[in-house]
Amino acid sequence: MKDLQKVVILGSGDKYCLEVARKVRELGVFSEILPSAASAEKIAEIQPIGAIFIDFDNKAGFTLPTLYLNKQEGINENMLKDFLFTSCKAKGNWSIKAFAQDMVEYLKAKAGGKKVLCALSGGVDSAVCAMLLHKAIGRNLICVLVDHGLMRKGEVQEIINEYKNNLDMNLICTDASSLFLERLKGVADPEKKRKIIGETFIRVFEAEAKKIGKVDFLAQGTIYPDVIESISEKGVVKSHHNVGGLPDVVDFKEIIEPLKDLFKDEVRQVGCELGLTKNIVMRQPFPGPGLAIRIIGKITKKKLNILRDADYIFREEIAKADLDTKIWQYFTVLTPMRSVGIKDGVRTYDYTLILRAVHSTDAMSAQWARIPYEVLEQAASRILNEVAGINRIAYDITSKPPATIEWE
Ligand code: XMP
Repeated sequence: MKDLQKVVILGSGDKYCLEVARKVRELGVFSEILPSAASAEKIAEIQPIGAIFIDFDNKAGFTLPTLYLNKQEGINENMLKDFLFTSCKAKGNWSIKAFAQDMVEYLKAKAGGKKVLCALSGGVDSAVCAMLLHKAIGRNLICVLVDHGLMRKGEVQEIINEYKNNLDMNLICTDASSLFLERLKGVADPEKKRKIIGETFIRVFEAEAKKIGKVDFLAQGTIYPDVIESISEKGVVKSHHNVGGLPDVVDFKEIIEPLKDLFKDEVRQVGCELGLTKNIVMRQPFPGPGLAIRIIGKITKKKLNILRDADYIFREEIAKADLDTKIWQYFTVLTPMRSVGIKDGVRTYDYTLILRAVHSTDAMSAQWARIPYEVLEQAASRILNEVAGINRIAYDITSKPPATIEWE
């Protein structure tokens, strides 16, 4: 990006580090995190106008303006401003709007007249990534949506309506739901489910890519936290990155990752700037394996339909109560547990459904949401009346840790 002033933040990439990086950007100066151990050459490569050290001593021979932050102090905005605008003489002209404009120009120059392939998932990151490219190169961007049949009610149609019909994107939607269901038949183990879904996704995408033939670029919606995460290694509780491996199966020259420097909320702001609808931009996080990991144990078409209908009602009631933008994630989980109930004087033996809603800022930890009883009651009574197969509903009051957000 032209004339981009950067401040480098040297630290471990932990939460505090990310907060400082976000704050610097909010003040209009682009920031980048490098590990404390980065060499002087590595730092010089990004040509920073200043450096912020977190919990770390100065490097010998460091000539840039520097600021030392001690984690106990929190972030002092005045101190930060003074450092940026007095010591570093920053212009303070970085903004989301400028980023979006510059990125579209950059993509035009890089990929204009060339073919770019992008896998759409329905999620915010791939949507914003596609939208930037759509603005830059129009129908030379080919988007592929693999419908694994594990999306929420109405979701695939919404994506087609928005991208294909409203935005006139070059979108190919391939319905592979029977294949996924077939491969998942009888599988109860969550990690096995993830593996099967990941592999099947790649095979289906590969088949579509083959039909399209050689492309110049493959676009991916990688965002900054993914980049930072891969620097700071941690033990894996669940294998979340289910579409890893995609680049190997597509015939392309280069990967484009237009969002690799942005935080999640910045990605959403770029989406708004580009005119994506609130539904897409404010979409709550949704796992790649979709509803497959919200049906505990074996998956069947019938269970998928029960869960889809119940989830739809819960989402509707949350939105009606004006909580949809206030809660990080809210969804339903279908357990394999059945219990005795009674409906219209007749004994039933049906499934137990769980309602789950959590507050979080980064999904690393989460607190169960104190939803008003009336909202829970209304959602539960509608689900029990409108969805056959469920006769008992419970609300999950566990935070993360010790639980995780999803049940599998
Ligand atoms: P957990 O359940 O580990 O989830 O607390 C943290 C966040 O990640 C989402 N999640 C996934 N996302 N593939 C994904 O793309 C997955 O397999 C997966 N599992 C969990 C979850 O919805 C939450 O936002």
